[in-house]
Amino acid sequence: MGSRELKSKFHSVGAIDWDRRLFDELIPLPDGTSYNAYLIKGSEKTALLDTVDPTKEEELVAHLKELDIERIDYVVSHHAEQDHSGAIPRILKDHPEAKVVTNPKCKSMLMDLLHISDDKFTTVDDRETLSLGDKTLEFLYTPWVHWPETMSTYLREDKILFSCDFFGAHLATNDLFVKDKALVYESAKRYYAEIMMPFRAPIRKNLEKIKDLKIEMIAPSHGPVHDEPEFIFDAYRDWVSDQVKNEVVLPYVSMHGSTKRMVDHLAEALTERGIEVKQFNLTATDIGELAMALVDAATVVIASPTVLVGSHPAAVYAAYLANALRPKAKFASLIGSYGWGGKMADQITGMLSNLKAEMLQPVLVKGHPKDEDFRSLDRLADEILRKHKEQKLC
Ligand code: FEO
Repeated sequence: MGSRELKSKFHSVGAIDWDRRLFDELIPLPDGTSYNAYLIKGSEKTALLDTVDPTKEEELVAHLKELDIERIDYVVSHHAEQDHSGAIPRILKDHPEAKVVTNPKCKSMLMDLLHISDDKFTTVDDRETLSLGDKTLEFLYTPWVHWPETMSTYLREDKILFSCDFFGAHLATNDLFVKDKALVYESAKRYYAEIMMPFRAPIRKNLEKIKDLKIEMIAPSHGPVHDEPEFIFDAYRDWVSDQVKNEVVLPYVSMHGSTKRMVDHLAEALTERGIEVKQFNLTATDIGELAMALVDAATVVIASPTVLVGSHPAAVYAAYLANALRPKAKFASLIGSYGWGGKMADQITGMLSNLKAEMLQPVLVKGHPKDEDFRSLDRLADEILRKHKEQKLC
């Protein structure tokens, strides 16, 4: 696909990566992604906003050739991560006159990561402007969407916010603008869940910072452009709020069926009490789906058997992930079985220290669960219901 005109004098010149299935060797990308770069031709100067992943460098170069771009004056770098910055050295080689415009923190990271020399940079402060002649770029620091240096650019005359990862979606699509809202919502939520969720507080500040700008379009660095920005604003406001939903996330692993029997019983007991349950078999689940469920749920219950005197490694991974993602869950617990002992409860509880969640009494069972164990699970379901009612979730 060639370059695509966003609006007169603005082109999307990035690349769509239909085949990528893993990001950072960690994050599943079931729908691929895109690395969006935008070209703005002012009456006097031309600016390229971000580049692409180095694997797609030739596509970016080809798109610029298509547009007969002879001179690039500025390469605005919103974020040092290589999926957006990785082709800057190539652009500087092809356009030695270009300056990299970014903030001091991003500059320092680009020098470390890409070995770009000091003389190639022009640094900008928060809210500083840069004129392209008839177009004005205003730079807004919007950090922690998931790195500390990230900024956005507001194109004043056209009321477009170029937001980098913020408001982005890992979605490969030919649609330049959001067309299938449900699909984009899922991809944007997945992206938020996987990398931005730990930074709810700074993201709230970023939303506050841009709330008075007149924004007609949001052009992120992944996924389609939002020409109805309220759609993605509403989604973000919901995700970063403190409001939780009447849901229990139940990641589990079971070796011989005892823990699974407990999971099934607890899930049924919670469902009977009107609580939505999202179960994830940790040996097979897409961790992105688990992360998305953690965005909203009031309660997390991890279920694990005992192996090698501790939790099953798959449950340790889930606990590590939940702790790192710092979801807004208000309650947490643990269920599982053991053969002759172990330290599973202490191990998992100790791993959830980042969660500002009240720990509810775990239910740990010796061997296959018996009637009294099922009654303990019913009591846990009652306790979760009581806590959710106190939060006015049901
Ligand atoms: Fe899309 Fe944080 O890079």
